[in-house]
Amino acid sequence: MSENTTQKQSEKQQNEAIWKPFIKLLFRAKLPWFWIILLIIITLGESQLALMFPDLTSKIAGGHIEKAIVFGAIGVIVARIFISGILRFIGKLTMYKIDKSYRILIWSQLMRSPIRLFDKVKANEMVSRTSTDTASLSIIFSYVVPTLLSMMYLTVGTVSKLFGYDWRLGLAQVIFLPIYFGCYLWYGRWSFRVNKQVQSRLAKLTQFLSELLINIPLIKTFVTEKKEEKRGINNIDQYYKAGIKKGIVSWIEHPMTGIFGVVQSALVIGLGVLLISNGSITVDTWVAYFLYVDLLYGVLGTFGYLFIELKQSQGASARIAQLVEYPEVVYERTYPLEKYDDDLVLDHVSFSYGKEKVLSDVSFTVPYGKVTAIVGPSGGGKTTILSLIERFYEAAPHSIRLGEVPIEDFHLHDWHKAFGYVAQDIPLLTGTVRENLVYGVDREVSNQELREVAYQANALSFIEQLPDGFDTHIGESGGKLSGGQRQRLAIARVILRDPDVLLLDEATSNLDSRSEQVVLEAMNRLMKKNRTTIVIAHDLTTIRNADQIVVLDQGTVNGIGKHHELLETNKLYRKYIDLHLGKPIL
Ligand SMILES: Nc1ncnc2c1ncn2[C@@H]1O[C@H](COP(=O)(O)OP(=O)(O)OP(=O)(O)O)[C@@H](O)[C@H]1O
Ligand SMILES: [Mg+2]
Repeated sequence: MSENTTQKQSEKQQNEAIWKPFIKLLFRAKLPWFWIILLIIITLGESQLALMFPDLTSKIAGGHIEKAIVFGAIGVIVARIFISGILRFIGKLTMYKIDKSYRILIWSQLMRSPIRLFDKVKANEMVSRTSTDTASLSIIFSYVVPTLLSMMYLTVGTVSKLFGYDWRLGLAQVIFLPIYFGCYLWYGRWSFRVNKQVQSRLAKLTQFLSELLINIPLIKTFVTEKKEEKRGINNIDQYYKAGIKKGIVSWIEHPMTGIFGVVQSALVIGLGVLLISNGSITVDTWVAYFLYVDLLYGVLGTFGYLFIELKQSQGASARIAQLVEYPEVVYERTYPLEKYDDDLVLDHVSFSYGKEKVLSDVSFTVPYGKVTAIVGPSGGGKTTILSLIERFYEAAPHSIRLGEVPIEDFHLHDWHKAFGYVAQDIPLLTGTVRENLVYGVDREVSNQELREVAYQANALSFIEQLPDGFDTHIGESGGKLSGGQRQRLAIARVILRDPDVLLLDEATSNLDSRSEQVVLEAMNRLMKKNRTTIVIAHDLTTIRNADQIVVLDQGTVNGIGKHHELLETNKLYRKYIDLHLGKPIL
């Protein structure tokens, strides 16, 4: 196959791929069809009025000053003003309704999407998809589609009216139509490309600014102020240049339309004089001709603008479709999970996020009611194992089982409810301490109970010192708390839920030794007797107290056993304890 054909095919596929999301998205959200159809009908009605006006005016110009015609012309003018007011209102109303439908669609879909999707599309991109992209899509359905239909109606209507007056008048317009269409299409494409460049450079600039402004301390410590200043100026300059280009493009529309106007006026006057002088048409027909051509021009100009809107929203619709069509998480499975009361078996578990294997052939058993510690070098896949057990990601079928039953057969909500997960990067929400502690707890929680769990998590004393105690706002995503305080809140939150199984990703490395001690104490209380616990441990006491230790290195199990066994048999473990912790081994 020649390169040319392949390229053409891929362009065709791309074009198809662009239209498909539009059509799919049309039926995915609950669109306000009543309003959309009403809008189309009114828009077409307005077009019909626009088509009537030149007819009536030309009659008046021809001296037909009859009541019906004069009042008809006035009626058309008044009705158009009235209808265009209604159109604006209904147009906006429909736009907001469509916008809302798509936002709800995306949001509901996101709540049912697997974590994999969130790895792929980052949070700030999700935000723009639920704001700017939905806005762009709603303009298409509330403005572009109705207007496009009315433009077509007007074009066909105008040309057939002209043919009705005199075939030469009709033909003179039909010949020019493709040229104008072609020019506006070309202009639309060019303008779209430049607009896109402006948008992408603005996005780059905003991203640069927001990232850098968050990282001011980093810039200061690494003394990169001058360098970043230069990068910022460069980004501003790039945006400026694209803006200038856009200015030139939008300026060109003016002379272009001007030239068309001159050609058309020459045509209207020339052809008119010719036909009037040889008696083919009368002056009133010429007036109608003049007004219809004027109408047609308005239509063609709008067509260029619609084309730009349509092109711009293609990207938006493709991006929304990607979110909406991502396979949902299936919560309903074969069995409910009545009680987590068996050993968890990892049987030759292999896993990759993308192409690279992160875990290969990992096998071990997590005994029921016991503490299993996972240790090993950074990046070895420890957190990944917890993610698979928690079922954030799915391992190969049957490779992880609770007793005999593959974990993917249990209802996912039941499964999540059985687990308490203290993650490495403690997620907190904007709100008060209390709101964060009771998050996801369906029952009433008394103050006494809150104090008790906070006490057990070694968090009570710091919470009491906060200005409003449990009702203190902890800032955006808990940003007003220290690392250790965040961890203790996360632990208290899990104690309150009292889960069957605990997954702990110990992250004490960024704490000073006193906070670390306090956090570890709380964690140890959490690993109370008879609770199945899997802990990614860095602390020697936790490791030594574990019933079983799994040494994980580069995605494979390097050894399993108790502390003293591994010290004797496992070289990596000995080295890890020796070097990594730097503490004397007893
Ligand atoms: N969401 C993700 N998408 C792609 N790759 C990932 C993702 N999460 C982790 N990885 C990769 O998988 C590997 C194992 O990561 P994991 O977080 O499981 O390691 P870890 O043993 O917990 O390390 P640490 O001790 O530093 O927390 C790493 O190479 C990491 O880059
Ligand atoms: Mg980790």
